[in-house]
Amino acid sequence: MNAEETVLVTGAAGFIGSHVVERLLGEGRRVIGLDNFDDVYPRALKERNLAEVRRARPSGALTMVEGDAGDAALVSRLMREHRPAGVIHLGAKGGVRPSIEMPALYCRVNIESTAVMLEESRKCDACRRFVLASSSSVYGNAESAPFSETMDVSTPISPYAATKRACELMGATFSHLYKMPVASLRFFTVFGPRQRPSLAISMFLEKVSKGQPIPVFGDGSTSRDYTYIDDIVDGVLASYDRAPAHGCRVWNLGNSEPVTLTEMIATVARVVGREPVIDRRGAQPGDVERTFADLSRSRAELGYAPRVAFEEGVRRQWAWMNRCHA
Ligand SMILES: NC(=O)c1ccc[n+]([C@@H]2O[C@H](COP(=O)([O-])OP(=O)(O)OC[C@H]3O[C@@H](n4cnc5c(N)ncnc54)[C@H](O)[C@@H]3O)[C@@H](O)[C@H]2O)c1
Repeated sequence: MNAEETVLVTGAAGFIGSHVVERLLGEGRRVIGLDNFDDVYPRALKERNLAEVRRARPSGALTMVEGDAGDAALVSRLMREHRPAGVIHLGAKGGVRPSIEMPALYCRVNIESTAVMLEESRKCDACRRFVLASSSSVYGNAESAPFSETMDVSTPISPYAATKRACELMGATFSHLYKMPVASLRFFTVFGPRQRPSLAISMFLEKVSKGQPIPVFGDGSTSRDYTYIDDIVDGVLASYDRAPAHGCRVWNLGNSEPVTLTEMIATVARVVGREPVIDRRGAQPGDVERTFADLSRSRAELGYAPRVAFEEGVRRQWAWMNRCHA
């Protein structure tokens, strides 16, 4: 990547997006951040993410634009005015459970905005790479683990997962039609400072520290390959850098060390120094039993090497939450 490059980042005010923007600015890139400040969680938290980015990078060249990645006229104008060298498309509706309640909305937001971003990118002659956020949920309840990018992913078990697979396929289509390098990144449960408040680690740290009951779905044996945000950002930047050499490529960005729900709760309890109060509930439809990344391809092709162990990451997230509340 050349230092002068302009990168268009969607979902820039969100959890992963704000960290990606911070890293890009730190490397001297100009960033056009696009975010519609959706109502999945309070706008104030996204404003806080951006304030943290601006504090960390006071001289960074960040232009934030409030708007929708599915708004073709807006994206077309941004492409004309800023001529980004590439796009990192992270703006989407996350969350498995709400997608079961609102499948059509998830299709409209996630798939349509990806099609618009791809179409406006390919029409801009300056824009020569496209990175999009997929998810480990595309593996569904795969029978064997760890999950490798070559496995069959034709049986997602939630509308959210189906939209993410559709985005990957849309990326492959544009890559075929226009020779656009498209990297689809399968993120495995990302955590760390600025994590969405509805996600388990964030919510559990908050509730356990206050002695409030935590909702626990199933018997605690489900597992997740939790991945610390800094490691994810390393992978996003490496894929942006190397996408042109690979054309159309899917990469897993995980930690390859699954943690059971029971172990996760024990870690949270150790970190906050308080016994958890458990509100046991039935297993949730749409939730996969486990996630477990095979990192052979991303290690070999991206030099991806996650460094932050689970408990250390939870300690960093908790320290950040305490700083925010101070
Ligand atoms: N956090 C995880 O564990 C995880 C795991 C797998 C995949 N992902 C994917 O990574 C991406 C980022 O997730 P996150 O955890 O940072 O979520 P987030 O909700 O914190 O960030 C997403 C941001 O995108 C914005 N947004 C949503 N729809 C938009 C649209 N149509 N146009 C412009 N902006 C829009 C939201 O306002 C929000 O600020 C998403 O695509 C998500 O599906 C996240």
